[in-house]
Amino acid sequence: MTGKLDKVVTRRDFLNQVGKVGGAVAVYGAMDSLGLLGGSMFASASSFNAPKKSDLVMANKIGKKVVILGAGIAGLASAYELSKAGYDVHILEARDRTGGRNWTVRGGTEETEINGVKQVAKFEKGQYMNAGPARIPQHHVTIDYCRELGVELEVFTNANEAAYYYQENAGPLSNTKIRKREIKADTRGYVAELLTKAANQTSLDENLTSQDIERLTAYLTRDGALNSSKKYTGSSYRGYTELPGAGLKPGTIGAPHKFNHILESGMMNYFSSEYSFDQQMLMFQPVGGMDSIPKALEAKLPGKITFGAEIQEIRQTADGTRVVYTIKGKTKEMTGDYCICTIPLSVLKNIPADFTPEMNNAIKSINYATTGKIAFQFKNRFWETEDRIMGGMTTTNMDINQIWYPSYGYLSKKGVVIGYYNFGQAAVNLGNMSIAQREKHALAQGAKIHKSYTSEFENSFSVAWHKIKYNEGGWASYSASDLKNYYPTLNEPQGRIYLAGEHLSYMTGWMSGAFESARIAVTQIHERTLKETNTKVKVG
Ligand code: ALA
Repeated sequence: MTGKLDKVVTRRDFLNQVGKVGGAVAVYGAMDSLGLLGGSMFASASSFNAPKKSDLVMANKIGKKVVILGAGIAGLASAYELSKAGYDVHILEARDRTGGRNWTVRGGTEETEINGVKQVAKFEKGQYMNAGPARIPQHHVTIDYCRELGVELEVFTNANEAAYYYQENAGPLSNTKIRKREIKADTRGYVAELLTKAANQTSLDENLTSQDIERLTAYLTRDGALNSSKKYTGSSYRGYTELPGAGLKPGTIGAPHKFNHILESGMMNYFSSEYSFDQQMLMFQPVGGMDSIPKALEAKLPGKITFGAEIQEIRQTADGTRVVYTIKGKTKEMTGDYCICTIPLSVLKNIPADFTPEMNNAIKSINYATTGKIAFQFKNRFWETEDRIMGGMTTTNMDINQIWYPSYGYLSKKGVVIGYYNFGQAAVNLGNMSIAQREKHALAQGAKIHKSYTSEFENSFSVAWHKIKYNEGGWASYSASDLKNYYPTLNEPQGRIYLAGEHLSYMTGWMSGAFESARIAVTQIHERTLKETNTKVKVG
């Protein structure tokens, strides 16, 4: 083993040991000390000098009023940062809760989709579904806010070799649940075998010395688990049909799947999603539900949020902003020196606002992702007892797309599984079904993979984000031409109105996009406040 490899294995072993002894918080601390978390390892996408109260005091500008539209992550983060710096902030929120798309559904949670019927979640105490954001990468600024706010984190198992691939209409491996590790090991083995042959052909001589080829061959032999003839015939990487045990049980390694069958199945096309930058393990979730993050921010903003306030108009005045909203059937107004609008573009496009025609055109030109999720509460954790799957996800080409096994409550009796999390047309199709049809459809597809799916089922809750009032979509979905033609406009303030949210970032669909965009709006407002003379702007 090389020195470099030794180091990697030692780190992982260390984290595993810490995890066993001290749980997620210990893992977090250990990772931090190893420099594996954002900050020390990666510079945050935007460096942020939080506005300081002392700046405002010195400029005699304490108490400038900022009206913030929306108490999702961007709105709360804006209010939090500005109030720390001495601004007078107030959030107008249409719902009766904070969080926006950061929404944890528990027993008793109610929702009525646009043109839909009311659902009331029946999950038992302690069970929950993160209907929106559900995983946090290590390098995201969200982690830094969790640290600052004291939000306890635990590992979210995004990738699990023990979970399955299951394909339909994709050749001889169709309609069979196959452990991810088998397909990965077999694919690597066959590719290694082919590359070994290629590496030893003269055409590569121009690029590689004979010593390079020797080293490459040694690596491929190890990585693909090739035999002494440089052939792939299976290995323990792919798991066992009978596990090794004590006494006279050496274990049995199963025969590999045929390479052409794997290629026809398309399962290898799923690998890259697990090592795309934002999906790489380790990933994290707050203990007890993702809404711990907005709740922690809300706790820092007592009396600063008006709930049930639906925005009707967003206006510019000579020296500030004016927002018209309705609350309990009454129309009211709130003026400020500035406004930060975090309303999703999919909703904002229907609110009259003093924006330039260019801005209005940009707002209405951006598509939002269609996406949906269903959560099933099961009586027993059969994925753990029958399949030995402890978290992670099964991946399929059926329109449920994936099944997520919970990363909390291991070994307990019940559990909430995500029965589908899909996008695009599949999300539209399932979203168009009745609540009962969605449940039936997703149960039937899941039952092809887990025999106990139907018998252990207790209740469900489903969300079609494009049909959820005040969101009307999962996240902004920019094309390359949108980024060129509209994105720069969206980033420009309109007078004293600033937009913020995941849609104002290159991390759309992530809380970090909302946090970082809030930081930009806050910084711009602060810089402008300090620059402007006191007479120009009406105070407070
Ligand atoms: N960031 C979202 C996810 O992880 C889209 O699924």
